Amino acid sequence: MSFHSSNSGRNLNAFAGPSSSTSFPTPPSTDVDLMNTQKTIRDIQQYLETYEYPFIKDISCYEKLNKIGQGTFGEVFKAMCKRTKKMVALKKILMENEKEGFPITALREVKMLQQLKHPNITDLIEVCTSKSNTSKDKTLFYLVFAFCEHDLAGLLSNRNLKIQPVHIKTMMQHLLSGLCKLHRSKILHRDMKSANVLLSKEGVLKLADFGLARPFLQPLKDQPAPLYTNRVVTLWYRPPELLLGDRQYNTKIDVWGAGCIMAEMWVRTPIMQGESEQKQLILISTLCGSINKEVWPKCETMPLWRNMATETNSCLPQGKPRILKNKLPMIKDDDGFNLLDLLLSIDPDKRPTAEDAIDNKWFYMKPECKENVYDLIENLKTSQFEFTVGRGVHANRNRQQQQNNRPQPMPRPANLPAGQLRDIVW
Ligand SMILES: Nc1ncnc2c1ncn2[C@@H]1O[C@H](COP(=O)(O)OP(=O)(O)OP(=O)(O)O)[C@@H](O)[C@H]1O
Ligand SMILES: [Mg+2]
Repeated sequence: MSFHSSNSGRNLNAFAGPSSSTSFPTPPSTDVDLMNTQKTIRDIQQYLETYEYPFIKDISCYEKLNKIGQGTFGEVFKAMCKRTKKMVALKKILMENEKEGFPITALREVKMLQQLKHPNITDLIEVCTSKSNTSKDKTLFYLVFAFCEHDLAGLLSNRNLKIQPVHIKTMMQHLLSGLCKLHRSKILHRDMKSANVLLSKEGVLKLADFGLARPFLQPLKDQPAPLYTNRVVTLWYRPPELLLGDRQYNTKIDVWGAGCIMAEMWVRTPIMQGESEQKQLILISTLCGSINKEVWPKCETMPLWRNMATETNSCLPQGKPRILKNKLPMIKDDDGFNLLDLLLSIDPDKRPTAEDAIDNKWFYMKPECKENVYDLIENLKTSQFEFTVGRGVHANRNRQQQQNNRPQPMPRPANLPAGQLRDIVW
């Protein structure tokens, strides 16, 4: 896939199309020169407005059907390829803040997805363009993905769906395989949540939404560890180290998210629904036990530890037991519970890597994982998406682009639908 990095009619320096031989006139000294200059500018503007990107198809080769997602990053539509009749998902790339062409964050997302071809990772087919109806000289870009029939958040909210332990085990194996591929490719997902986990109509689970993902660097010997932005991961799925301001985090932030998703498969709703960072820490302490040096020796080195621990009404309450087991009596299988318990370790160093997790004993015990969970979804008449079923955390997202980073989901605006953020352990 190849495309020009600039679409702006005003960004002439970045323009490098096949007819870029148009030379820029010297400053006008007479009226005739001025008229010539104006004509040249008009010609260039017209050229840019009608420019056909040579390697990118126009979006008109797809027929838009209906809207299936509304992230703050952009809208997602179900569509059909007019030639092959195959279904796709079109994710519109927001260009509102872009003065310098194709947004760097979307470029990052595309580059990573090109690198990440794997059965358990969403399949990016191509990037398409279209001219916007609203702003004459602006081109819109769409990421075109192979269509998946459901997202996990939508699916879990369907209470009529009877999910058996073997389905959960199979979906977890798929999820951890996708995560292994990601981490082996030195990429952090940074937005693990059930709405970003898709299920194809064949019943294969796919990790999706690489809008917050980034490559990570292995710190070199004697060099300071690189610092990353801390404003990542949707609040309900955010691990304690991020809530305590860590900027030297690693793959274990995604492993915590995998744990939250695993528990959600049994509980059928996100397990810790805090409405602020402080409340989220309290919910974690309530469910997983107090955060302190006994369970996490390095916790006091976290940037926000001192402030938070010494506040009156601290969000790091002490003396709380770990009640995960009592709260999840529906997990009858000890091996399954033990894996969940590890994934939700307070201390990131005690969480297994995705690679270790997939080797966990649970996956070798009966019932054995199936190839897919087709039998779970085969009788569903309609697609289940977080957006279309009207639940979940997507409305809690506010991804504005700031200095090439997509910042953390912001606290809930007052007008969110009732019940979206309730400060509860389910
Ligand atoms: N390939 C796909 N097939 C079917 N549905 C999809 C696909 N990709 C995305 N979706 C739907 O669109 C929703 C939003 O997509 P995605 O998460 O990639 O965008 P986003 O703007 O980053 O969203 P958010 O801000 O809510 O995380 C997903 O939760 C899912 O329901
Ligand atoms: Mg998403």
